Amino acid sequence: MSAQCNLCAGRGLVIRDNVAEPCPCVKQRAVRNRIKVSQIPPELSKYKFTDFAISYYSNSKIDSVKKTVYRESASTTLQAAKNFVQRYLEDPHTTGLLLTGPVGSGKTFLACCIANNLLARNKALLFAVVPDLLDQIKATYDTNKSKAVTESQLLDTAREVPLLILDDLGAHNYTDWTRNKIFSIINYRLNYLLPTVITSNINLEDLEEHLGERTTSRILQMCRPYRLLVDVDIRMQKARQ
Ligand SMILES: Nc1ncnc2c1ncn2[C@@H]1O[C@H](COP(=O)(O)OP(=O)(O)OP(=O)(O)O)[C@@H](O)[C@H]1O
Ligand SMILES: [Mg+2]
Ligand SMILES: [Zn+2]
Repeated sequence: MSAQCNLCAGRGLVIRDNVAEPCPCVKQRAVRNRIKVSQIPPELSKYKFTDFAISYYSNSKIDSVKKTVYRESASTTLQAAKNFVQRYLEDPHTTGLLLTGPVGSGKTFLACCIANNLLARNKALLFAVVPDLLDQIKATYDTNKSKAVTESQLLDTAREVPLLILDDLGAHNYTDWTRNKIFSIINYRLNYLLPTVITSNINLEDLEEHLGERTTSRILQMCRPYRLLVDVDIRMQKARQ
């Protein structure tokens, strides 16, 4: 319902066959608002499943765990991401995803495809980059700053949002403090059966060492793990093209 809309001139209604119906601009505005609230960066809000290229993944190197070629693992992971969207539409308490893999293997890309697909369907979600979220929480402790948001507001949003994308749950130097924050988000979401899509460059077998046993055990309960493997960082492959 924007004043600039030349279909409805801001009324939010159009007349078709003598019947008033909502103008498409009403939905478009709702979707734009969802995108804003999701905090997905503009650059990442372009990613679509149809742009996810499989050719960057080696057709000869073998995933030592799955015993499949990298390209096949990537196809499986792409399909799992698409299936997640479908599952989520049918059941908002469906199991989440854990996307692991090395730097530049498409984890964030795929997580964004999920987010963008659901945002276009007007679903509410939060895209949180873990190190940034932790920094935002720390900044609320700064007594010199006027507090626009409080720690509990930041944590509550991440805990309660219907779908949380936790990007880059990486191998930072986790302190007890950071581990506790992550635990409290994960534990809440598990208890309320709220799905989470996590990207991480920590291998599944090393998760516990970085996040601790209690968080790892919960993540494995609430997320299906998939691995994206690349021979060469896709950022490098693209730079060479
Ligand atoms: N399958 C793909 N098809 C096309 N472009 C891709 C694909 N995967 C990744 N890219 C591009 O490669 C770059 C790196 O991808 P992305 O950010 O998803 O990597 P990542 O696995 O999240 O890496 P990091 O561990 O550093 O966060 C981005 O510019 C992205 O657009
Ligand atoms: Mg990433
Ligand atoms: Zn309109």
